[in-house]
Amino acid sequence: MSIIMSVSALLSALLLLASAASASHFYGGSMTFNPIKNPDGSYRVDFRFKEAYHSCYTSDSWACRSGNCGSRTSFVGGRVDSSSKGGSWCQTEAVIKRTVPNNSPFQLTQSSCCWIYTIYDIYGGNWGLLTHIDLGERSDTSKPNRSPVATTLPIVRVPQNCARNYNLLSCDPDKDTVRCRYGTLSANECGMCRQPPGFTLDQSTCTLSNSVNASIGTYAFELVMEDYPTRNITLNYTAMAPTVRSPFVNSSSSSPLSKIPLQFAVEVEAPAPSCIEGEYLPRFIHPTPHQGEHLQARVNQELEIRVKATATFSSITDVVFSGPLNSTKETTTTGEYVINWTPTSDNFGQHFPICFIAEGQNGSRNYQSEMRCVIVVVEAAGPRAQVTCTKDTMSVSIERSTISGIHGDHLRLNNNASCAVSSNSTHVFTTFSLSGCGTQIEETDEHLSFKNTIVTYDNPNHIITRKNIFEIEVMCKYQKKSSITTRFDAHRPAVNFTERGFGSFSYQFEFYQSGTFRNTRDPSSYPLDYNVGETIYMEIAPVNVIQNTEVFLESCVATPYDNPSYPISYPIITNGCGVDETVNIYTSHQPNVKFSMEAFKFIGQYDQVFISCSIIICEANNPNTRCAQGCTNGTQVAPSSHVHKREAAIQTGSHFISQGPLRLRRSASFTDAISPSLNLNLVFVAGCVVAVVAMVCGMMVYKSRGSKVNYQLLKSDEI
Ligand SMILES: *[C@@H]1O[C@H](CO)[C@@H](O)[C@H](O)[C@H]1NC(C)=O
Ligand SMILES: *[C@@H]1O[C@H](CO)[C@@H](O)[C@H](O)[C@H]1NC(C)=O
Ligand SMILES: *[C@@H]1O[C@H](CO)[C@@H](O)[C@H](O)[C@H]1NC(C)=O
Ligand SMILES: *[C@@H]1O[C@H](CO)[C@@H](O)[C@H](O)[C@H]1NC(C)=O
Ligand SMILES: *[C@@H]1O[C@H](CO)[C@@H](O)[C@H](O)[C@H]1NC(C)=O
Ligand SMILES: *[C@@H]1O[C@H](CO)[C@@H](O)[C@H](O)[C@H]1NC(C)=O
Ligand SMILES: *[C@@H]1O[C@H](CO)[C@@H](O)[C@H](O)[C@H]1NC(C)=O
Ligand SMILES: *[C@@H]1O[C@H](CO)[C@@H](O)[C@H](O)[C@H]1NC(C)=O
Ligand SMILES: *[C@@H]1O[C@H](CO)[C@@H](O)[C@H](O)[C@H]1NC(C)=O
Ligand SMILES: *[C@@H]1O[C@H](CO)[C@@H](O)[C@H](O)[C@H]1NC(C)=O
Repeated sequence: MSIIMSVSALLSALLLLASAASASHFYGGSMTFNPIKNPDGSYRVDFRFKEAYHSCYTSDSWACRSGNCGSRTSFVGGRVDSSSKGGSWCQTEAVIKRTVPNNSPFQLTQSSCCWIYTIYDIYGGNWGLLTHIDLGERSDTSKPNRSPVATTLPIVRVPQNCARNYNLLSCDPDKDTVRCRYGTLSANECGMCRQPPGFTLDQSTCTLSNSVNASIGTYAFELVMEDYPTRNITLNYTAMAPTVRSPFVNSSSSSPLSKIPLQFAVEVEAPAPSCIEGEYLPRFIHPTPHQGEHLQARVNQELEIRVKATATFSSITDVVFSGPLNSTKETTTTGEYVINWTPTSDNFGQHFPICFIAEGQNGSRNYQSEMRCVIVVVEAAGPRAQVTCTKDTMSVSIERSTISGIHGDHLRLNNNASCAVSSNSTHVFTTFSLSGCGTQIEETDEHLSFKNTIVTYDNPNHIITRKNIFEIEVMCKYQKKSSITTRFDAHRPAVNFTERGFGSFSYQFEFYQSGTFRNTRDPSSYPLDYNVGETIYMEIAPVNVIQNTEVFLESCVATPYDNPSYPISYPIITNGCGVDETVNIYTSHQPNVKFSMEAFKFIGQYDQVFISCSIIICEANNPNTRCAQGCTNGTQVAPSSHVHKREAAIQTGSHFISQGPLRLRRSASFTDAISPSLNLNLVFVAGCVVAVVAMVCGMMVYKSRGSKVNYQLLKSDEI
């Protein structure tokens, strides 16, 4: 027992060392907080702490510097985004909850070594962060003060010859005045405490500007963000005398309501051939939200922020972002980057900053766009609705009592008069085709989505024209990866909301009697007998045709056991290319795929083989999909350009190996064939319906014709 303990102690010491090592090279951090008064008079303070290092690392090493900091009640942390460029960083966010007994001010601090190497400290200086919290009840809001909210990417890059302003979008939920300044060492607000030459900080707008010709290199910015009331207010405390807080006059005469750290690095790079946005530096285009825009989100509904950028002389390779924990990023086949986040009820009423930067590449050189930031305001949950997705229809039913101002008889789909929305006294409902009524299709690495919008329309009998005052975005989202049973997931409401349903596609693998593909082999005749050289006709088809989609046969292998990753396998189709010379693929860019091959040379010493295929479903006629590429040799997909990179991502995202068995037998004796695995596979064949890319096959038994069988083409030791 004691030995085990000491080993585990040693192990954890090693782990600590390892994590300390990986945690070095600080790229900055930031902290915001939101207090809530508990019924018992204590306070719950939710802190959101972002930190960035070379690798993903999250912790809570905050120490109490002054006051009563209470105790931590929960900690959850995780990665937000990372990048391999600009020194390679990973930003994490931790949500830390503390319970504090009273509302007197307190300070949390954290410090360590080392910053990334900077122009004025090539060994990486110390870092330090300070957060000042004052929970005194404000006379204007009757609540404790909330901190300003802000975030940044850990490192932003600017060519030396290009002047740029980084507006550190400071938003205060209490509508206070927000200011930024450099930290001071005596207050523990920074580690190196430099005011980098060649940069100016506008303290009242929190805008950092580089002057053209600043020296090339990396600079660390250790800023403090503070909020001041716009008029005199009183702060009341349970355990001390009230104080007055005044608007900002100067730093020696005014005290802020709170202080939060905002630390990051700026890398001044070699000059760019041009500083014009849209040439080498990426430029944001529609539908990217504007700088400072406030976006409305709803509890339990997925918020979607679409970012798109362009550049004539560089290809867009990524959009990096900083946002709340659990936000994610996806790429669509149209080149948009979608940042998704679903607020929980804990987030209600709060403000969340999200910043993003587009990255472009020309040769070995990377260019960053400006940094753009938006604020997400979380409102209460919206209307209750249910979306049901089938293979070819979407049904939506919305509870009238959860929406106001809706006139059920003046609703329709996507402004298409022929697609009506009905209603009764309790619900508004509609069912429409995924391929009609203006339904839009969108594809990302992981999902195929069908979207439509329910809108109010002008009543021709009314003299007063009503504009579209109500929009409900509805969506059916299909996982390309795996089977997900129908369920719903609420979305954006009051005025606009998206309601998502999840569905699954079903595909069937059939064997045909002949090349006319008219009659399938009778399921009751399985296991099927084939002779060597006989052609096996196969089709993979959707159980119900899904409009606007095509299927692509990515790979098929034959294996002696019911496991496509079994080390001994015979490739039939790889990267969409026929590997076996007898393979024929008859259809392409269709919802189904028909193909054939000669009965197997892949026999060797095995009695049976199983065929497993992976298919990829794509939007039809979209030139950016893997399906459109057809046969490729895997190595050719190099991330040398924007388009290639996305294709590579799609391809990877869609690689799903099926479980389908195909069984061959050399012997006509059925007694050999009756095995537990055979029975299992028979069940598979009878079911023969699987979700999405998963695949099902029938099974066949190869019947040898005595000594005429020629095994020469594939010897057992070649398998
Ligand atoms: C603060 O305290 C004073 C005196 O105790 C009281 O008059 C005032 O109403 C309080 N203000 C708030 C916002 O509670
Ligand atoms: C930047 O440096 C170059 C070369 O030293 C000089 O010609 C140019 O005037 C400088 N620009 C500014 C804005 O200082
Ligand atoms: C606000 O408070 C300051 C002192 O705290 C005082 O000098 C100033 O006159 C007050 N302003 C107003 C408008 O009451
Ligand atoms: C700050 O403001 C106070 C009051 O307005 C004034 O007396 C003081 O001189 C100012 N200090 C500085 C450094 O400007
Ligand atoms: C890279 O820049 C050169 C000019 O500097 C331009 O001719 C070329 O098209 C650019 N490459 C890409 C991929 O945009
Ligand atoms: C993030 O997601 C995880 C798993 O879904 C969940 O347990 C956690 O509470 C979420 N955290 C926040 C802050 O939303
Ligand atoms: C209204 O329609 C919905 C959906 O079709 C149905 O569930 C509900 O029972 C109907 N209510 C009434 C009062 O007919
Ligand atoms: C409206 O929907 C119907 C049914 O799907 C379709 O035939 C028609 O083309 C659509 N009209 C417009 C303007 O999109
Ligand atoms: C609702 O959507 C419309 C169009 O998509 C947009 O113009 C409007 O601003 C949105 N309303 C809200 C409150 O987001
Ligand atoms: C794939 O690569 C092989 C050898 O590297 C070559 O023989 C074959 O022609 C290539 N196929 C395609 C479609 O490029």
